[in-house]
Amino acid sequence: MLITLKDILKEASINEYAIAGFNVFGYEDAVMVVEAAEELEVPVILMTNRDAVVHMPIKILGNILTELAEEAKVPVCVHLDHGKSVEEAVEAIKAGFSSVMYDGSQLPIEENIKNTKKVTEIAHYFGLSVEGEIGCVGYSNPSLQVQSMYTIPEEAKRFVEETGVDAVAVAIGTLHRMQAQEANIQYERLEEIERVVDIPLVIHGSTGIRDEDLIKLAQHKVGKVNIGTALRMAFGNTMRDELNKKPNEFDRIKIFKKPMIEVKNVAREKMLILGAGKKKYSRGYKCC
Ligand code: G3H
Ligand code: ZN
Repeated sequence: MLITLKDILKEASINEYAIAGFNVFGYEDAVMVVEAAEELEVPVILMTNRDAVVHMPIKILGNILTELAEEAKVPVCVHLDHGKSVEEAVEAIKAGFSSVMYDGSQLPIEENIKNTKKVTEIAHYFGLSVEGEIGCVGYSNPSLQVQSMYTIPEEAKRFVEETGVDAVAVAIGTLHRMQAQEANIQYERLEEIERVVDIPLVIHGSTGIRDEDLIKLAQHKVGKVNIGTALRMAFGNTMRDELNKKPNEFDRIKIFKKPMIEVKNVAREKMLILGAGKKKYSRGYKCC
C-alpha cells in the first residue's frame, strides 16, 4: 500500500519504534527492502537520492517504486530524498512519489524557509507530505564540501512553524556515508529540540549510528531513520566477493542474487533494531 510520510510516521513518533527510510537505486534493492518489511510486518520508506535520479529518469524510478509500494502487504512511502529545488520536488510529485524532501540546509535560514514553504504548499495541495531540514548533516568525506551545522532548537521551532512541513531532519551528531558505527549523538540537543517541535524528527546519516543509539533514538520523537550506506556496502561488497569467486560468470541476474539477499538481511536487521516486532503497527493506514 502506497502511503504518505505524514501517515506512515503518525504512530512511529509516539510509539517506541522508528520507521527505516532506505536509499534504494533500482528494483534489486527496493524489492528486497519491501520483502524484509513484509516479513516483519512493518511499514517502510523507499527513498531515492540524487545519484539515483541522475542515473535513472525519475519517472521510471518512480514507476518501479510506486508499483512495488502499491503491491506491498505493508504501508510503504515512496520519498524523494535530498531534493535540491522546487522543480525537482514537482518532478517527483508528477512521478507518483508520496512524499518529498526539500533540502535547503546549506542556504541561509530565510531562504531555506521560503523554498521549503513553497514545496510544502505544492505537495499539500496534492495531499502529499514534505520533509525539510534545519541545521545541516554533513558528509564524512570532506571533499564533498557540505558544511555541517548542528540544529539550533529555536531555529527548528521557527522552521517548522513557518514552513508547515510534516517531518523535520535535524543535525545532532551524525554524518552521511560513515562506514563505521561511531557517531556521537547529542542527546541533550535532541531533547531540547523535542521540547519545542511537535512533529516527527528525522535522522540522516544513520549508517554511522551505533545499534544501542538506534534503539534509544527510536524511543525519542524520532519517526524516520535514514539509512543508505549500509545497504550500498552490503550490495557492493557481496557483489565483489561473488565476482571474485566466479570469475567466469557474466549474467547479471545470477550475479545480483547474493547481493540482493544481503541487502534484505541488513534491512531486516536495521528494522529490528529500530523496534520492528516490538509493537505491531495498527492496520488503520489509508492509501494516498
Ligand atoms: O538521506 C540519506 C541518509 O541520510 C543516508 O545516510 O548513507 O550515511 O546511511 P547514510
Ligand atoms: Zn541524508
